[in-house]
Amino acid sequence: MKTQIQHLAQQYYEQIVLDRRHLHAHPELSFKEKETARYIAERLKSIGLSPQENIAGHGVVAVIEGKNPQRQCVALRADIDALPIIEKNEVPYKSKNEGVMHACGHDVHTASLLGVAQILQDLRQEFEGSVKLIFQPAEEVFPGGASLMIKEGVLAANSHTPAPKSIIGQHVMPLLEVGKIGFREGVYMASTDEIYVTVKGKGGHGAMPELGIDPVLIASHIIIALQQIISRNTPPKIPAVLTFGKVIAQGATNIIPNEVVLEGTFRTLSEEWRYEAHRRMKKMAESIAEGMGGGCEFNIVVGYPSLKNDVALTQRLKYFAQEYVGKENVIDLDIWMAAEDFAYYSQVTDACFYRLGTRNEAKGITSGVHTNTFDIDEEALKIGAGLMAWLAVKELAGAFY
Ligand code: NI
Repeated sequence: MKTQIQHLAQQYYEQIVLDRRHLHAHPELSFKEKETARYIAERLKSIGLSPQENIAGHGVVAVIEGKNPQRQCVALRADIDALPIIEKNEVPYKSKNEGVMHACGHDVHTASLLGVAQILQDLRQEFEGSVKLIFQPAEEVFPGGASLMIKEGVLAANSHTPAPKSIIGQHVMPLLEVGKIGFREGVYMASTDEIYVTVKGKGGHGAMPELGIDPVLIASHIIIALQQIISRNTPPKIPAVLTFGKVIAQGATNIIPNEVVLEGTFRTLSEEWRYEAHRRMKKMAESIAEGMGGGCEFNIVVGYPSLKNDVALTQRLKYFAQEYVGKENVIDLDIWMAAEDFAYYSQVTDACFYRLGTRNEAKGITSGVHTNTFDIDEEALKIGAGLMAWLAVKELAGAFY
């Protein structure tokens, strides 16, 4: 089976590259992936599948039925949205939608999953169970397409297909050389919450602070005190990060403003600590503002939860990946404080989110995700498609013992 899959990944490689380049040239923002979804559905139909469209916006789902399709199902997920970035790469497949760019590799994930569709459709007489392909919109923007697709029932059983026993997602990793695959068991990525604070004071002349209430000084104390929650209250074994990247005080050298606005991000790997930290941060900020004679509106926009890779599933997939790409090419990943809405799937069923190496220093391909020069070594597409097909088939085979 492995040789067959590798052979098919090679055979369809050109088409997978074409798909990736088409998607890269025609990126669409989160919740606006209309043409992308249309393209995906057309490609799935040309392969002989019957995709369901417009799920949670522009989501597309298709099922490939192998032998005994009612007995077991594994889901594979690709995200399909792009970012508001002006592409700086001078390549034939450069973005034609000015200001929108596939700078997080979602074109790669989508093209790879289309490749998986083709490979597994060819092999449908040879594997057990069914494979559900989930093309998910809006990974980049809250509330994220994943939670919406779950609400639409993509992880539930229906009359044709059982509920997926597990879900697998892959993501490009420009820090990892092409040919390498990375896994991490257990908690892998952080929760992410946005913090919006408005500190209220009383503006006035900079020379007479005693007549006003200085919100700049209050805001300064709040920023430092909130970092103290990270260093003094967070259990040292739990990673947590707090960053205020936006601080606005519209006064002048001699003008104390009426208010100061702070905007930041809070990330951690423990759902329990996450909500306790919210409570403490709000109380701390409000108490400081009140103690200094001002006021404070403290709002948290709750974002994605932390992403937990099921340990047993990840161990199995890691072993299967070693079989496919060789033991020396499978590495263990460190935790990563970025966030992913794939985390929602991991709250519902056994999930594994792994990384696909896309870096090639010799070709000068080293830019990080979310930069205007991000690109990949397209050799990664062959592995991305073949490996994912292999993982699904092996995971299903194991479930039939
Ligand atoms: Ni991404």
